Amino acid sequence: MSLELVPEDSKVLHERCEPFNPRSPDFNLEMLVTEMFITMKQSGGIGLAAPQVGVNKRLFIMTVEGEDFICINPSIVKASKETDFLAEGCLSFPGKRVLVERPSWVRVRYQTITGITKNVRLRGMQARCFQHELDHINGVTFLDRGKAIDVALQHSRSQDQ
Ligand code: CO
Repeated sequence: MSLELVPEDSKVLHERCEPFNPRSPDFNLEMLVTEMFITMKQSGGIGLAAPQVGVNKRLFIMTVEGEDFICINPSIVKASKETDFLAEGCLSFPGKRVLVERPSWVRVRYQTITGITKNVRLRGMQARCFQHELDHINGVTFLDRGKAIDVALQHSRSQDQ
């Protein structure tokens, strides 16, 4: 089953999400994550954060360069001084593109669905997507990071986050 993306003016997209307790008995984490992957793929995105489907928790998923990530309570440990500019898309703002400057690589930490803590260095599109999703769970959208540029919808389908 796919989930509904909340409208762009929803409060949950603009507030800091709560830490996620993977052992919480009243939360079916596996079902949520499975449905988030379905929703992301159906929408043609590469990343999706819990608040985008109305869940105020520090959790996001991404599929970038053939690799699936489930990131629980994620954080950036270190970011490069070098930066890149990229026109980002976002599933919560269909058809919009924003040119955003971000560190080129990041060392990150997050918990996996099985409770293991990962420490990894991401670069390229994986680093870019991780930072975009981390913004989401901090209540920050790409519109807070730059100015929307006009791009036709059909050009923006492949890399929405
Ligand atoms: Co987004």
